[in-house]
Amino acid sequence: MATYSFVVGPLARVHVTLVAELKPYTEEAAAEFVKESLTDNETKTWLDLQANTARKMEWLLGRIVLKEAVSEYLLETQLTKITAKQIEITRTEAGAPGVVWTSENPLPLPVISLAHTKGVIVAAVASAEAVGVDVEKADRQAPVVERVLTETEKKLFDDGRISLLSAVVAKEAAAKAVGVGLGGDLRRWPIVYTEGTQHFVTCIDDEELALVVDFLEVPNLILGVCVIV
Ligand SMILES: CC(C)(COP(=O)(O)OP(=O)(O)OC[C@H]1O[C@@H](n2cnc3c(N)ncnc32)[C@H](O)[C@@H]1OP(=O)(O)O)[C@@H](O)C(=O)NCCC(=O)NCCS
Repeated sequence: MATYSFVVGPLARVHVTLVAELKPYTEEAAAEFVKESLTDNETKTWLDLQANTARKMEWLLGRIVLKEAVSEYLLETQLTKITAKQIEITRTEAGAPGVVWTSENPLPLPVISLAHTKGVIVAAVASAEAVGVDVEKADRQAPVVERVLTETEKKLFDDGRISLLSAVVAKEAAAKAVGVGLGGDLRRWPIVYTEGTQHFVTCIDDEELALVVDFLEVPNLILGVCVIV
């Protein structure tokens, strides 16, 4: 199902799935996905989800794409084939996704992250401490970002080393890897440096933190992934 797959360093894989539009998915198609892929807990969460149809479909496809990415990762790294219902996608209180086995299994599972934008679902998996991923459409306007750039970011922007969108994506990917999400607070995650396709992000609460965000080349998208080892 993945449209593009990337290997990032020795530890991480990123799957990008393009889903044309969410609208064509009918209730019947959703019910079929639920039956095929979700565990009982996940099905309950799906049924309880208070959201419009597009968001419900986005949530559902997010679980499916994450499970597919985890399955492919296990096949590749552990030579183990699994079915979607052998694993369950969990969620921390802050909203960060995780994955667990539904019955006892000694094989280690990867850390995971998810991002979506219209018609695009991105799942990242890694054998690492944590992973965070973010994606934006390359033609998205983000004028508000320019007003909150730090002095260093302004310089990087003027030198053409970051764009407004790459800044948002780097900050969001880093914040997701830490497990807190951006929460609208772009200033909390300053970009301090760039090198090649990487942005280096820190946090104002912990300036020792050095988070590397790799940018992947996908047509019409700005896609960043942050692996914490
Ligand atoms: C919660 C947040 C992660 C949502 O991000 P978003 O850009 O709206 O949506 P994305 O598609 O990138 O990511 C959503 C996914 O992130 C994951 N996520 C949610 N909270 C998370 C957290 N605390 N840590 C890590 N991942 C998280 C979830 O899997 C979620 O998808 P799901 O609800 O279908 O499971 C958060 O960072 C946020 O509030 N962002 C607001 C956007 C913003 O501030 N933009 C400013 C730019 S102008």
